[in-house]
Amino acid sequence: MSDSNALGREQWGSRLGFILAAAGSAIGLGNIWRFPYLVGKNGGAAFVLIYLLITVFIGLPVMMAEFAIGRAAQKSPVVAFKAIGATPCWSVIGWMGTLAGGFLTLSFYNVVGGWTIKYMIESLGGLLPLAADGKSGDFFNAFVSNPYGVVFFQVTFMALTMLVVLGGIGKGIERACKVVMPALFVILIILIFRSLTLPGAEVGVSFYLKPDLSKLTGETFLDALGQSFFSLSLGLGIMITYGSYLGKEEHLPSSAVWTASLDTLIALLAGLAIFPAVFAMGLEPGQGAGLSFVTLPAVFAKMPAGGKFFSFLFFLLLFFAAITSSMSLMEVSTAFGIEKFKWERKKAVCVMGTIIVLLGVPSALSLGGAPTIAGKAFFDAVEYLCNNVFLPLGSFLACLFVGWVWLPGAREELTNQGKLPFPWLNAWVWCIRVVAPAAIAYIFVTGLKW
Ligand code: PFF
Repeated sequence: MSDSNALGREQWGSRLGFILAAAGSAIGLGNIWRFPYLVGKNGGAAFVLIYLLITVFIGLPVMMAEFAIGRAAQKSPVVAFKAIGATPCWSVIGWMGTLAGGFLTLSFYNVVGGWTIKYMIESLGGLLPLAADGKSGDFFNAFVSNPYGVVFFQVTFMALTMLVVLGGIGKGIERACKVVMPALFVILIILIFRSLTLPGAEVGVSFYLKPDLSKLTGETFLDALGQSFFSLSLGLGIMITYGSYLGKEEHLPSSAVWTASLDTLIALLAGLAIFPAVFAMGLEPGQGAGLSFVTLPAVFAKMPAGGKFFSFLFFLLLFFAAITSSMSLMEVSTAFGIEKFKWERKKAVCVMGTIIVLLGVPSALSLGGAPTIAGKAFFDAVEYLCNNVFLPLGSFLACLFVGWVWLPGAREELTNQGKLPFPWLNAWVWCIRVVAPAAIAYIFVTGLKW
């Protein structure tokens, strides 16, 4: 956001800068940590297939809708709907997104962000020798059961996020993403190469890429839907905010296609780095949230040379990917404090950051055994609520709004007042009015299971 428009509102410096920043928010722990563990939990390739279908037919159209709302309104989510002439009830989308994204999602996101810092440090210390002895699981369990350790790293990650948001996101995000994203890509390619060349890797490849449709359940669809929205940063108003800083001349559909494609590519590559190695080492792919943190150290430990270095580099990049996403989430609550309570940025970051840290502490502690909510670890409960309830709900309401209330306005935005072609316009209208809301409602009702 180094430029500004005629009204003095900040804008992205370039199209590439915007796409990489949107991809920076989208690409994060969701791609490298969460996507593979959901694939493992849901039986492999069948989940990948459903995930891709949902991303193309639901996620991508919703992203275009969010970009359109943001750019038309040139405002953040809580006030955007009013700015484009919607009746006040639609502002609930902005409110819900702000509370669920700016606070709840970030509260558990920063816990895992903290793990990446711990793992970065331990990559150079005792992690790999333990992993080489098959003890990376014990290491992980010992770490998450130590209350001081997890909270310390959670607070550290959050403090770093706050520091960046304090200085403004403009050039920082745009510039960081231009360096970090290509680097992440290169590291993943190296890891994939290593993973695929391990003896026995082909079992993992077929688990990951050959669908067995008998493994599909209602929960698979809900997990895939929640993950698609989480990974694309949808349903919480982030893409409305990012779209609001876009110039009027940009072609929204192609920006959305680029952002979603980069995001999906990185998720698919992360799986390809992880599953062949998991199977080659006879490990269990369905173990849940610990997958990347337990399995990848074992992969690095097996590297003939440079294991420590690659392990450090991987967790460093995971940390960068995580922080570009957490900054986008932190910016939501910060902007809310500034707009709603007229606070200065500094005060907004400090107050909101403190609330988010406190909200995150029970999550940080819960993987060590307590606290729980109705039988689920606090962390899992908050994550489930955000990803399987609030994200789909926010997106569902956005579809209803754009498809049935504001369609002419959205059409204008997506075609730049008819000046730019969008050959898929009719298909998009169909998706946003019928396919996406019907699928979200169906999956939501049938798959919701605590
Ligand atoms: N998309 C991010 C990831 O995949 O890690 C997480 C995220 C960021 C979710 C921003 C939602 C959001 F609004």
